[in-house]
Amino acid sequence: MSSQDTRHCRRCCSVSVMRHIEVKRRMAEADIAEVSELLQAAASADGHRPLGEHKWLDLVEGGRAGFAGFVARDTNRSGVLVGYAQLTRGPGSWAIERVVHPDSRTPDGSVAIDLVNAALAEVASQGGGHVHLWVPKPGETDDLIAKQARMSQGRVLYQMRAPLPVSSPASNITTRAFEPGVDEDAWLQVNNAAFAQHPEQGSWTLDTLLRREAEPWFDPAGFLVYSEHGSIAGSCWTKVHADEQPPIGEIYVISVDPSHQGKGLGRQLLLAGLEYLTTAGVETAMLYVDSHNTRALSLYEAIGFSLDHIDRAWTADVPPVNLARHSGQGF
Ligand SMILES: CC(C)(COP(=O)(O)OP(=O)(O)OC[C@H]1O[C@@H](n2cnc3c(N)ncnc32)[C@H](O)[C@@H]1OP(=O)(O)O)[C@@H](O)C(=O)NCCC(=O)NCCS
Repeated sequence: MSSQDTRHCRRCCSVSVMRHIEVKRRMAEADIAEVSELLQAAASADGHRPLGEHKWLDLVEGGRAGFAGFVARDTNRSGVLVGYAQLTRGPGSWAIERVVHPDSRTPDGSVAIDLVNAALAEVASQGGGHVHLWVPKPGETDDLIAKQARMSQGRVLYQMRAPLPVSSPASNITTRAFEPGVDEDAWLQVNNAAFAQHPEQGSWTLDTLLRREAEPWFDPAGFLVYSEHGSIAGSCWTKVHADEQPPIGEIYVISVDPSHQGKGLGRQLLLAGLEYLTTAGVETAMLYVDSHNTRALSLYEAIGFSLDHIDRAWTADVPPVNLARHSGQGF
């Protein structure tokens, strides 16, 4: 797929920009290396990682079933990579994330618009469906991009932070470390029941969990499990972002079995997780929470967390398109 637009260079003359977008069902090693470089440049410019963790794992592992990577090149500049988008098919919806190289960003967001439209066309050709486009720290251009792609504002995710140690009294429960190879099934059952209403977190499989356990940051000592009568009642999984300077400690997943909720266990698990992070030498705690999750939000605020920034999803319901009748639109 190619597109052409006109933008102004710094000397105020018009330059013609030709873009080519290629869709990849699997990423070769060279593609992954090239895209990783682009992601790194964007992360340095923006102060946050452009792809969420699920997407990042999909990319570096070459892409699972339902994966599509969109690679945008500037054909005027020897095909230099100017942007990348990734499409994932979830249980009931599609998710798109996209990133544009800092040197190729324009106020009209044209590279991003091309990438999003290419991903939406792919969704249409695969039978259509509900789509989320997640944008970290959205700005005015992101509104414009979403409008061009006929998407409307959807879920908002809060990133909250708290300085450590927190001033609340110590946790009054005794937790143990998650035991790899033993706890997976029982933990998944509690996690999926607690997050039953959650579009991403409620449908974890053994594969999803094992992929996290294989990550270099995974440390069972920071994955705190609380059991009652031999069954897992809740857990607080922490993640230390050692690559941040100074390191940040994330409350990565916290869940209480529905039969134990509302009895004070979530608060104690959170305190236990924060104590673990404090002992590990971390000075700032961080977490993500859906803006509608009032129970979790009031708990976090009560313990000392406050809003750092928001991430937003734009959504669309894409009708299917019959590619046979639209020849020339495929990738
Ligand atoms: C969020 C969760 C971990 C909280 O655990 P919990 O054991 O249910 O919560 P607690 O009983 O410890 O209550 C903690 C605080 O939540 C708030 N809270 C509890 N029930 C609430 C309700 N029905 N409505 C609003 N706030 C409520 C209160 O502020 C309470 O503080 P308090 O002790 O001063 O009263 C748990 O409900 C859960 O697993 N939910 C599903 C998964 C999830 O949303 N995880 C968080 C993702 S970011």
